[in-house]
Amino acid sequence: MSAAFSGDPSVHAAAFSGDPSVHAAAFSGDPSVHAAAFSGDPSVHAAAFSGDRGAHAAASSDDPGAHAAEPLGAPLTQNASGSAEPELFGAGLVRSRRFDDLYQPDADGSQARAVFLAGNDLPARFARAEGVFHVLELGFGTGLNFLETWRAWRGALAGTARCELRYVGIDGHPLARHEAALIAEKRAEAVAHSAPLEWDQALLLEAWNWPTRGAHHRPLAGRHPHAHGPLPELELVHDDFEAALVALGGRLGETFDAVYLDGFAPSRNPNAWSATVFTALARLTRPGATVATWSVAGAVRRGLDAVGFDVERRPGHGRKREVLAGMRRETRGTEPDPKSR
Ligand SMILES: C[S@@+](CC[C@H](N)C(=O)[O-])C[C@H]1O[C@@H](n2cnc3c(N)ncnc32)[C@H](O)[C@@H]1O
Repeated sequence: MSAAFSGDPSVHAAAFSGDPSVHAAAFSGDPSVHAAAFSGDPSVHAAAFSGDRGAHAAASSDDPGAHAAEPLGAPLTQNASGSAEPELFGAGLVRSRRFDDLYQPDADGSQARAVFLAGNDLPARFARAEGVFHVLELGFGTGLNFLETWRAWRGALAGTARCELRYVGIDGHPLARHEAALIAEKRAEAVAHSAPLEWDQALLLEAWNWPTRGAHHRPLAGRHPHAHGPLPELELVHDDFEAALVALGGRLGETFDAVYLDGFAPSRNPNAWSATVFTALARLTRPGATVATWSVAGAVRRGLDAVGFDVERRPGHGRKREVLAGMRRETRGTEPDPKSR
């Protein structure tokens, strides 16, 4: 079972056959009309999204209110580096056709917790942090790592933690809001939360404005009736990692406490793991800052080490036998040859 979103700004259409059910979806990129139909097992979903400001209609055999589509202001391809061509699979998984890789290997955030949170010693460090704790993510994607970080921080605040959370997510091929909403819905079904969506996911979707190129604050306004507690500060940067990091470095300097490297596999997407990226990361992190990723590729380990991170392989998660965690040394390293990948 899978569904696809085409970055073609005018017409999105896809039909997929799966076992045991058949799903078919059509999205019109014309900002006025979106339509989707899903036939699945055991339930049947059919939804129509009208982009005509405010007019939405959804029909589903078991969940009539689950769709959270909003009108789209302009074609995605005019604003960022084009779509990563996400495809939705049956169990709430999403893969990029363009990069031939999964966004997350699970729908319930277990990779986020096992690799990115644990690899950065979170939430324990929230309890020790003073002032603002800064997280930088390369590859914001569907926002699942962000949501898991927010939940962990919220849990820490219920204990002794008192820090604020500032999260900067970079993505050069951002999802449109209707894509993010559909993914969130399918994920919620897959992990049996069912609709309505968790309030933090709903707030993130409300903040998911049209992703034009550049840096954007995305206030999580807390208008949701069930929203409670302090909210993180979220900034999304829609640009290629290299350009975004260089610009952030000029603006923020050595700011970040924790970094998530989640930019598709190095073998399929070497630009996300370039010497320029690693050099910029060293400039953006404080001594003692940590970095985590599921990739233990030699080029990643050497690239991080060269710019000033001590890295170690740790026992893996899911299908990954090992994952990587690192810590920024007191001084930055020699800068690697930008041509070395
Ligand atoms: C594995 S997915 C990230 C999944 C995400 N962390 C989540 O929680 O859903 C990788 C993301 O990195 C983005 N990406 C890949 N290469 C990039 C690059 N060179 N510059 C900017 N974004 C990139 C893709 O658009 C995609 O959203």
